[in-house]
Amino acid sequence: MSASAMKTHAAEAALDYVESGMTLGLGSGSTAEIFIARLGEALKAGNLTSLRGVPTSEMTARAAKAAGVPLIPVDQAVRIDLTVDGADEVDGRFRLIKGGGGCLLREKIIAHASDRMVVVIDETKLVETLGAFPLPVEVDPFGFTITAKKVFDALRASGAPRCDVALRRRGDGLEPFVTDGGHYILDCACDELPDPEAAARRLAAIPGVVEHGLFIGLARTVIVGEEDGAQVLEI
Ligand code: 5RP
Repeated sequence: MSASAMKTHAAEAALDYVESGMTLGLGSGSTAEIFIARLGEALKAGNLTSLRGVPTSEMTARAAKAAGVPLIPVDQAVRIDLTVDGADEVDGRFRLIKGGGGCLLREKIIAHASDRMVVVIDETKLVETLGAFPLPVEVDPFGFTITAKKVFDALRASGAPRCDVALRRRGDGLEPFVTDGGHYILDCACDELPDPEAAARRLAAIPGVVEHGLFIGLARTVIVGEEDGAQVLEI
């Protein structure tokens, strides 16, 4: 069974959480885009009405427009009922690593502002300890080499057994990848993050760090796509 089929099972199950009239945070990445496509189908079929989406990336905004999901500007969203988003890793306490697609700042702003966050993943993303997936850290381009050294120190001090910090580059490998907000991403390969709260605290204290990809205390529901369906986990 392919990861994409498992992602589809998770994304489809997330539709159960959507009610007509909701303002929805629309996550980024391939699983979130499957959810957005299914949302568009439900709107066209009349099974859901009066939805408004708040996209977490330019890519998601394009996917929502293509699917026929109406969008509102983030600053008009006084309240966000529900956000559905993917993740790169999820542990047993619903702590997440996000930012594989480079959208973590906007994703976190929207998730934090939402009444509920539902995470949609395939089963390979469930882990015992976070950190096999390199942690994305969004940084200001100004002084990013100074910031990179501070990020290394912070992650090692939080108990990571190692830390390789790499500037994310665009597909051509030449230019730095630039986020929708105009920032760089540092991908931090640590193998393990034994104390995600300590890592999050230390990273947040670095001036050049705009946001980090540890999402702690935000997800209440994780939908795990499996071979023959989806398993819903609740905290
Ligand atoms: C983007 C993200 C994505 O949600 C995460 O990378 C998972 O993506 P996918 O659903 O394509 O596996 O955090 O910044």
